[in-house]
Amino acid sequence: MSYLETTREVYREAALAPQKALCCTTSKPYQLPGLSIPKAMLEMNYGCGTTIHLQDLRPDMTVLYVGVGGGMEALQFAYFTRRPGSVIAVDCVPEMLEKARANFEVAAGENAWFDPSFITLMEGDALDLPVPDGSADLAAQNCLFNIFEEEDLGRALREMRRVLRPHGALVISDPVAQVPIPAHLRADERLRAACLSGALPLDDYLSRITGAGFGTVEIRGRRPYRLLDRRRYGIEEDILLETVEIAAFNDPVPSDGPCIFTGRTILFTGEGAFDDGRGHVVTPDIPLPICDKTARWFEGLGREDIFVTPPTYHYNGGGCC
Ligand SMILES: C[S@@+](CC[C@H](N)C(=O)[O-])C[C@H]1O[C@@H](n2cnc3c(N)ncnc32)[C@H](O)[C@@H]1O
Repeated sequence: MSYLETTREVYREAALAPQKALCCTTSKPYQLPGLSIPKAMLEMNYGCGTTIHLQDLRPDMTVLYVGVGGGMEALQFAYFTRRPGSVIAVDCVPEMLEKARANFEVAAGENAWFDPSFITLMEGDALDLPVPDGSADLAAQNCLFNIFEEEDLGRALREMRRVLRPHGALVISDPVAQVPIPAHLRADERLRAACLSGALPLDDYLSRITGAGFGTVEIRGRRPYRLLDRRRYGIEEDILLETVEIAAFNDPVPSDGPCIFTGRTILFTGEGAFDDGRGHVVTPDIPLPICDKTARWFEGLGREDIFVTPPTYHYNGGGCC
């Protein structure tokens, strides 16, 4: 069996009976007015973090959701789009698609605004998406890409970029590891399928995203998720896994490198304004969010009246790179 087949097996089981151990979410789903999430969906919340960020969402958009699980996030996207076919939800496990279909029927009973026709369920593979080029405004995945081995991760990210329109957003929630996970755990197919051993260090994950051609990346959240502890996993040091929430935009990669926003900000304490001649003007007492590339440039000036903050990993818009 390959690790991809093991993954299908794990999620076939998880579709037939909810698996508490796979529910790794660290945050509650949004409480939105008039949105009721069926219990069956909550019990199958196999994601970590969220891919729903209000600043991304418009009623006229087409959303592609890859790895539908019990359908909880697809339902949340449909809350914003509310049109037939406006959310396309793909999964490679037929039993999972059937479960999601049943859950959407229950959701329709609990939510007067919702019609299951808003979500088109499609059997398909993240590595070869069954949707045309440039057809989605936003593409999302929660807790799936961490399972993929290196080559497949690159392929899955390139597929997401292929189906996004220019400037469309890839929205990700996935575990990352504080240090590389030892090879014997990475090779454990069931652990990998359970989102516990495939995670990459954040910088590696980001370079896969930008390597797939996404020119702008925002880190929107980062929180503790699990501990791979020494005794249980037979490793020398405990390894902290974190959930990271990322938005990556289908913008060309600038010639001087991608713009990655990690929550760094410039604070200027000088007189008047400072213009870097590259599109950034800093003024006293007005914080200016900047990308990491620009942060390094400002730090390189060595000026006493310019303070560049470390990353917060909670960037929520504003500024320019
Ligand atoms: C960890 S679960 C996450 C489910 C959902 N995103 C959530 O947040 O609850 C991973 C999902 O991806 C699906 N999946 C696994 N491998 C896939 C692949 N190669 N292509 C598409 N879906 C896949 C599984 O069937 C499962 O529904």
